[in-house]
Amino acid sequence: MSKPRILSGIQTTGNLHLGNYLGAIRNWVEMQSDHECFLFMADLHAVTVPHDPAVLAENTFKVAATYIACGIDPAQSTIFIQSQLPEHSELAWLFNCVTPLGWLERMIQFKEKAVKQGDNVSIGLMDYPVLQAADILLYEPDSVPVGEDQKQHLELTRDIAARVNFQFGSEEKPVLKIPEPLIRKAGARVMSLTDGTKKMSKSDPSDQSRIDLTDDPQAITKKIKRAKTDPARGLEFDNPERPECNNLLSLYQLLSNQSKEAVAAECKEMGWGQFKPLLAETTVEALRPIQEKYHDLMSDRAYLNQVLADGKTKAQAIAAPTLAKVKAAMGFVQ
Ligand code: AMP
Ligand code: TRP
Repeated sequence: MSKPRILSGIQTTGNLHLGNYLGAIRNWVEMQSDHECFLFMADLHAVTVPHDPAVLAENTFKVAATYIACGIDPAQSTIFIQSQLPEHSELAWLFNCVTPLGWLERMIQFKEKAVKQGDNVSIGLMDYPVLQAADILLYEPDSVPVGEDQKQHLELTRDIAARVNFQFGSEEKPVLKIPEPLIRKAGARVMSLTDGTKKMSKSDPSDQSRIDLTDDPQAITKKIKRAKTDPARGLEFDNPERPECNNLLSLYQLLSNQSKEAVAAECKEMGWGQFKPLLAETTVEALRPIQEKYHDLMSDRAYLNQVLADGKTKAQAIAAPTLAKVKAAMGFVQ
């Protein structure tokens, strides 16, 4: 029997942070031995907000190197660049013509990002989830492992697939396979270090709010030392009045690979002065091997280029027939 297939991606905007690692990449690594994995760099999504052409390509290599440094094995998984497969943009166009505008106007991420862009909101920003639906449905995955913030986009993807099937397929012969979202509870929402009610994000103007996977030990220690806390004594999970406490404990739990119960017991009596150095050291040690591998990979461009060329070929072998199937169902000249 063939392995279940998963597909996921990360935008190539800025450096990846602990949220990307714990909410997404780490889950892919765990799944890769018993799943067929398609993992890509969403560089077409990166240009939905104003971008700097001088760093776009470099950011794409950085994300690819991060996947591999975190444990994605190019011999097992397919790693590719979204913009190198025209199938993504072409299927997005076809989906544009079946997706009601009202569905996109409801997207929370669009509304949040549009406010930040002011007068400069592109059609691309609104269309972002339609491209994401194309990214996903081209590969007919069984499930899509992402962080909590992507839930609405995955629901939209399912709605678009169902609509295409309804309009151009039949019940016995659906055009597209409808995938399941896969959102793990642990790590699905890593919060900002400066505000435990906001998610850790690449777009937060404050560098202090996130730990980038490439931060050096001094930077990590300083950020954790300055992280927002509260005056209550003792540390605990899941107290809604203590979002920062829950977030920092969860980071410690995930990065030290312990159970929640073990961490709750270990930290019950601790104060911040004792806990923060422990979290800082744990984070530095967890990221050290990833950073070493990352720097090696970034200095071996020939190897990265080879991985991405192989990935493109393997991805296209799946994406091209799916696109052809949709075009045929919609009635285009064969
Ligand atoms: P992005 O950086 O927005 O392209 O996100 C890439 C992946 O990381 C997606 O699966 C997101 O859901 C996940 N992700 C981003 N930020 C966080 C966060 N703060 N906590 C958990 N997962 C996140
Ligand atoms: N929108 C996703 C994010 O911000 C990135 C993404 C683009 C994606 N296309 C995708 C994730 C397809 C999963 C599947 O995280």
